[in-house]
Amino acid sequence: MIRKYIFGSPFQTDAVVCDIPCSQGDVPHMKQENGENLSFSCQLGSADEVYGLGENVRGINKRGWRYCSCCVDEPNHTEDRQSLYAAHNFLVVRGQTCFGIFVDTPGVVTFDIGYTHLDEMTITLVYPDAAIYVFEGMCVLDIVKEFRTLIGRSYIPPKWAFGFQQSRWGYKTEEDIYRVVKMHRENHLPLDSIYLDIDYMERYKDFTVDRERMPHFEKMVQDLKEDHVHVVPIIDAGVKVEEGYAVYEEGIENGYFCKEEDGKEFTAGVWPGRVHFPDVLNPEARKWFGEQYRVLLDMGVDGFWNDMNEPSIFYAQDRLDSVIDQIAALKGRNLNLETFEQFMGAVRSLSDNREDYQKFYHQTPEGRMSHDRVHNLFGYYMTRAAGEAFERLCPDRRILMFSRSSYVGMHRYGGIWMGDNKSWWQHMLLNYKMQPSLNMVGFLYTGGDIGGFGADVTEDLLIRWMQMALFMPLMRNHSAMGTRQQEVYRFDNQKILRDTLHVRYGLLPYLYSEFMKAALGDEMYFKPLSFLYTEDAYAPQVEDQLLAGDSVMTAPVFVQNGKGRYVYLPEEMAMIRMRSLDDYDTDRYPAGHHYIEAGLNETLLFVRPDKMLIMSDGGEYTEDVHTDHMKVFAFVKTNAVYEWYDDDGMGKKYDDPEHMTKITVAADGTYTCEGRNIRLTVELL
Ligand code: GLC
Repeated sequence: MIRKYIFGSPFQTDAVVCDIPCSQGDVPHMKQENGENLSFSCQLGSADEVYGLGENVRGINKRGWRYCSCCVDEPNHTEDRQSLYAAHNFLVVRGQTCFGIFVDTPGVVTFDIGYTHLDEMTITLVYPDAAIYVFEGMCVLDIVKEFRTLIGRSYIPPKWAFGFQQSRWGYKTEEDIYRVVKMHRENHLPLDSIYLDIDYMERYKDFTVDRERMPHFEKMVQDLKEDHVHVVPIIDAGVKVEEGYAVYEEGIENGYFCKEEDGKEFTAGVWPGRVHFPDVLNPEARKWFGEQYRVLLDMGVDGFWNDMNEPSIFYAQDRLDSVIDQIAALKGRNLNLETFEQFMGAVRSLSDNREDYQKFYHQTPEGRMSHDRVHNLFGYYMTRAAGEAFERLCPDRRILMFSRSSYVGMHRYGGIWMGDNKSWWQHMLLNYKMQPSLNMVGFLYTGGDIGGFGADVTEDLLIRWMQMALFMPLMRNHSAMGTRQQEVYRFDNQKILRDTLHVRYGLLPYLYSEFMKAALGDEMYFKPLSFLYTEDAYAPQVEDQLLAGDSVMTAPVFVQNGKGRYVYLPEEMAMIRMRSLDDYDTDRYPAGHHYIEAGLNETLLFVRPDKMLIMSDGGEYTEDVHTDHMKVFAFVKTNAVYEWYDDDGMGKKYDDPEHMTKITVAADGTYTCEGRNIRLTVELL
């Protein structure tokens, strides 16, 4: 049951794709407060859980903190933050009653979930214009499905994007790129794509290539494609201000950049120095910006990542000038606590200052709009620009696209990565916990920077992180310039990393099938235990184990020097302790709490009763993974059935029934396949 309420004149965000008639009266479950802002609150029972908010800090159960939907370039994903790069205003309360709420408004929204008062939740909107949707259902999964149906089908990437991907901010030349690929191939470390960070551009100008560093860019893209490696360049939100640069000139000529009150383009500073932001909320400007991707598509590129699109502002030009004046006035002074703080405060005030959001405007179909009012839509609309262009330019082909900033609705055009995490054990866990929350709001193609972006990784952290990421759809190792180099071939225990990568390629048929079924059916791919085992009183306490698809539960090791971990089983499960594709042992565990050993080279996988995990023999790239023969790990009590989805991985005819094969394994290990005829080696667990 979905109900919609309108407050003020909400901006049409296009988060929702279905028409729902408006209900009259009060929003159910929430009490409207008569304060300065539009706000709603409700009491929380002592056992109530609150799930959702997509990309944010802290746990899966969001209770116990205040969060703020305000997309921001925040590299410190610590517990004291309230906002990261995204605004995902959907949550579900489960307890005495079970309901979901989606606050569709592009301005800032705060969610005080048991922060001010342990037993109270208050949602406050900075601007009082919103469409509010309330969902009722028997359980969290039903509510999530209602919501997902409302917001439309999730983005589906090409199949190669489920392979392993290597990235680093610091690869500068063609030689750097060829070398990384060569090291992978020579060492039999599977690889499907390599990323270009900002250094491939000419002085950080979008849609250009630095021909000194990459004189044979097209040939490189082609050579690597022949080696089954896709080149994925970054695109930033800000367009460099530079006479003679076509994108800048066209944007100025047509009035496609965001403007200030007086009609002159708003100038911010980002990587290239001064930039203007394309007005992606203006449909014409959006179309124009999307067309720019063609330059790289024509060079053979078939994947992109959109960055700095909160949009990130190092400084606004006029604020920078005034801060420089303030600081100059302090020259020669004896700075004490207050004056030094003033000095630091002035510098800190430069970046991502919300006052600057009020200084520029978008020309939207609903008229001129201050950026502040629609702030949370920028990353979404930048990615929409690209997605709509791909639909026009290559309608039958999937293009890889994911973004840093997002809002609900963007999930139809691309995935996301979780921004600038650090090489910290706790960030590996944080990225793991975000997965189900992101699935709730439609983002299925997701993953964090493996090994951590900032700070120096250690070998054991990278190994554990790779094991944790085995089921993450986006499996990309990415790191920042100046940090320890963390390509998998740089470490002594290359064998463990190689074996882990081969396990990933073994898992691909299952992973892809589960991802696709989740995308096509508006379901979650990663689920917390409590969503499935709804009657289990302990399940809500478990936030470091997730169900990946329908058959498997994962339980990675998240601590330094961990040689095993506690695992909670809500029902009897079979375990595979996986060291490599052909080196593993298996066991069965009854429901309950267990301490299970897992050496550094071991990943624990659990298979649910009457379910199975299908695995290929691996491969060095996705096209090398063959599915005419597969191994099946089946935990059969009476009869295990698996619906296996597969397609060509490039086209868009998703709904063809030919893609489904039904595999049935009986208790004695005999099997049947309806659909494709595959040869299976069954291993009963
Ligand atoms: C941002 C991105 C990061 C990228 C860097 C340089 O920090 O989040 O992934 O490497 O910019 O482009």
